Amino acid sequence: MIHNPFQDSPSDYILNHHAFNAVAFLRDYWQQKPLLIKQAFVGFADPISADELAGLSLEPGVDSRVVQKTATGWDLQHGPIEDFSAFGDTGWSLLVQAVNEHYPPAQELLRAFRFLPDWRVDDLMVSYSTVGGGVGAHLDQYDVFIIQGSGSRRWQVGEPGDYKTICPHPDLKQITGFTPIIDEVLEPGDMLYIPAGFPHAGETIAEALNFSVGFRAPSQAELISALADYALDQDALQQRFHDRSEILLNQDGTELADREPWHLPQQATQYCRELMQSALNDDALLHKVCAELFSKNPRPPLPDYPSEPFTAGAVVYSCKRYELLVKAVGVRMITTHHEGNLYAVIQGNWFRLDEHAEALFGVLCDMTDYAETVEIIEYLSSSFACELLAGMLNEGLFMLTNDEDAG
Ligand code: SIN
Ligand code: CO
Repeated sequence: MIHNPFQDSPSDYILNHHAFNAVAFLRDYWQQKPLLIKQAFVGFADPISADELAGLSLEPGVDSRVVQKTATGWDLQHGPIEDFSAFGDTGWSLLVQAVNEHYPPAQELLRAFRFLPDWRVDDLMVSYSTVGGGVGAHLDQYDVFIIQGSGSRRWQVGEPGDYKTICPHPDLKQITGFTPIIDEVLEPGDMLYIPAGFPHAGETIAEALNFSVGFRAPSQAELISALADYALDQDALQQRFHDRSEILLNQDGTELADREPWHLPQQATQYCRELMQSALNDDALLHKVCAELFSKNPRPPLPDYPSEPFTAGAVVYSCKRYELLVKAVGVRMITTHHEGNLYAVIQGNWFRLDEHAEALFGVLCDMTDYAETVEIIEYLSSSFACELLAGMLNEGLFMLTNDEDAG
């Protein structure tokens, strides 16, 4: 394994090991019960300010909303929001999704969560809230760590249960009261872990920024749909339903079965299940589907295709002509083994890796939004490494540019 200098670079966000032990946490709390970690980050500095967050919510493609408690109930407005003055001084929050993608410096905070694999992370959601603000009691489908930045908020977390759902606005799902098992005021650097399905509510005590690290967990429906999409695309899984004599004939096979022509017998479902199960038994195919799924961002990046294709043979030369290598917003990258070889899978594109390409991959993966090409060229020391970079440039997931073009 070739040394990757970037992996040792210090991060601004390191979990305080006196307060948080990742091994004990994964064993005793992760996906089991909520936990408050006081001073999980010592001297926590907000990775984005409230003003920058408000600015970000104006940008195209950024998913943001303002949730407000009104005299009569709750209100929600989707961004972009130009003027926040109408909301007054209290009782509202601005929530912005995927801040790590739209504001790459915020990506740094996610590095503290690498005790879980990168491909489990969904996004960093940031909320700015005024005194009294919150989104009300609710459940999330996903595990979340909520880090308190500036200000303070009171967080209550309850046990999972059969809560009544209310929707004061079509896009605001809340639940009616729960009994808290955690009821604490979070100060800067404190962190709350809430497993999926545990009710919670935050209320702002002093104007606050909260950073929520959310995790992705595909449902059975999403997995099956990914398998079906892949199979249809690749013309795979073409075994078809076939009749069995038990459906067509009587038990000893001497006569036609006694049935109405329009009746679908239960056994037909069993045959369909067997067909589907045999599809799931194709290990290599299923692994390809899962690798592609986890290598794709649910908010797909907008590729910036080159005007002329890059070739592996000339990619070192191409890099020398530019100062910067830029990563497209939201590119997901994983490595996995397939049929005995190591591959990089990037937004569903597969690249075979040798140890040089693997080292380059590590650098590209850890790169926040750009790197100087001089730092990249030294990794282009095998044809696999060159093919990896040329391939990603051709897919528009990485771009070569000069410093002055970048801004
Ligand atoms: C918030 O920051 O107010 C909402 C975070 C959450 O409850 O998931
Ligand atoms: Co929540």
